This record gives sequence, C-alpha cells and structure tokens, in this order.
Amino acid sequence: MFYRDTYANIDCDAIAFNLQQIQTLTSQSLIAVLKANAYGHCDYWTAKTAIEQGCIMVAVSSLDEALSLRYQGFTEDILILGHIRPSDIDRAIANHFIVTVISADWIKTVAEMNQNFKGLRFHIKVDSGMNRIGMKSVDEVNTAVELIHDHHGIAEGIFTHYACADSFDKTMCQNQVHFFQDIVKNCSHVFKWIHCENSAAILDFQDSFTNACRCGLIMYGISPLPCSLNLKPAFSLYTHMICVKKIHKGESVGYGATFIADEDCYIATLPIGYADGLIRAVSCIVKANGWKL
Ligand SMILES: Cc1ncc(COP(=O)(O)O)c(C=O)c1O
Repeated sequence: MFYRDTYANIDCDAIAFNLQQIQTLTSQSLIAVLKANAYGHCDYWTAKTAIEQGCIMVAVSSLDEALSLRYQGFTEDILILGHIRPSDIDRAIANHFIVTVISADWIKTVAEMNQNFKGLRFHIKVDSGMNRIGMKSVDEVNTAVELIHDHHGIAEGIFTHYACADSFDKTMCQNQVHFFQDIVKNCSHVFKWIHCENSAAILDFQDSFTNACRCGLIMYGISPLPCSLNLKPAFSLYTHMICVKKIHKGESVGYGATFIADEDCYIATLPIGYADGLIRAVSCIVKANGWKL
C-alpha cells in the first residue's frame, strides 16, 4: 500500500516487446545493458525480462551493481562493463561475474594478486577511439589472454564501444570498427563473444563481424535516432494535482521566482520535486487548456 500519488510505473511487457522488435533487426545475440539500476527502470525485473526474451547476459557498470542483482536472486550471467579494483577480484570469482579487462596493466596487477582465477570469465575491452578504458594494440590483447589462461581464467569475449554511433556521419564508427577488426583478426585467440554495437549502431551501423550487441536505450523504448521500430516507452511517471489556486498578474511561483504571471491565472501544484530527481533547471511552463501548469 502506498500513500503517495506520485509514482513511476515500469512496464516489463514493453521491455519484452522492445527486445522482440530489436531482434527483428539483427540476428546477433543480445546483451541487455542495465547500468544505473537499468537506466532507472529497476535492475532485477529488467534483467529477468531480458533473459526471458533470450538475451545471453546482462551488463552493468560496476561490481556494486552486479552484486545488487545477485543479492536480489538473479542467477544468470552478468558482465561488468566498467573497472573493478584488482583487490576485489575474489568477489567477482565467488559470484561468477564476467569481468572487463580494461588494460594490460590492470590484468597484470590482478594476476600478481591472485594465482588462480578459478574459471572467471573475462571480456577484453579494446579502445578503438573513444579514449576511455581499453587496450590499443594486439600485443596488449595477446598479453592479457596469456595471463588469463596462465591463471586458469577464460578469455570469453572482446568488445569495443562507439563514440558517435548516434550521429548521421558514420566516419568515426567506420574508423573504430576497422581498428577493432584489425585487432581481433590479428590476435592469437578466438573469442566466443565479439560485440561492439550499442542502440544507435544496432539501428544504423551493424556489421557482420560481431556476434553479439549491447542494447540499452532502445530496450527501454527510447530511440537515439529516427527508426522504423515501433518502440514502446517502458517508464511512465504518474502524479496528481494536489492544489489549484488563482494568482494575480505579477506574482511569482516557486524557487528562484523564475515564473512571473503575465496575467491573472490558475496554477496547479504537483507533489514531486528535486528530491525525486526532477531537476530544478526544468522550470518549464506548459500551457494546456487555458491552464498554466
Ligand atoms: C560499453 C557500453 N555498451 C553499451 C551501452 C548501451 O548504450 P545505449 O544505451 O546507447 O544502447 C553503454 C551505455 O552506457 C556502454 O557504456
């Protein structure tokens, strides 16, 4: 029972529908991206829905997010896309997570601290131009694979991330994919999973070289580009007007007095504010049916 009329409704059927729509565009296996509590959509139920719809794994940002899913009872594969501290690797092993190798130095440190990875799976991140985490050469990738094998781990995947997939000019994507392909083709190991596409690339820059893709935004029903898919937004926010009053021309409303009535009018108060995450910068005024809201 809730006593507040402001709430978010998450529609898992919409997430399932969106995943089915995405699968009509690609034959690749889907990895559902659940960063930041599934982009605010509730990690556990989104993860369950994604696996029910055939996603091969879910991906999160951090060890904390992965542990949160495990604590809630999610038993399927979880890929941690971001950095984890080498000293925390035992946590990843104990919880059967899949860990991203962010650099050759990182995996060297992990190997120095831990002699036996006990079958821990790794995906190697290639920095193909984003210039954040990832390796930039075949030598580094080969070193990482060797260290993983020497320490009884599994080099399961390799991936990169596009910087500009949502722009109409695809030159940067082309440069990145060529760089990535070059590394994957020339390294000494055959990976089970190769993935680069995010939502925008699934819509507008697919390649036949990879066998999996990572969908975030479009799974939640938000498209970064104009698209032919009939996506359904999964997040709805509901509230009720709790107070309506008349104010006179010249009176102000709210913090900073940013709205000043230019005529006598009615205003309504909605019980939601910046403590709920509604940013104060969105002090917009909507005129509807003669009302100023
Ligand atoms: C590495 C990586 N892959 C995939 C995604 C999903 O991107 P999108 O929400 O555009 O599908 C993200 C999003 O932050 C990401 O960091």
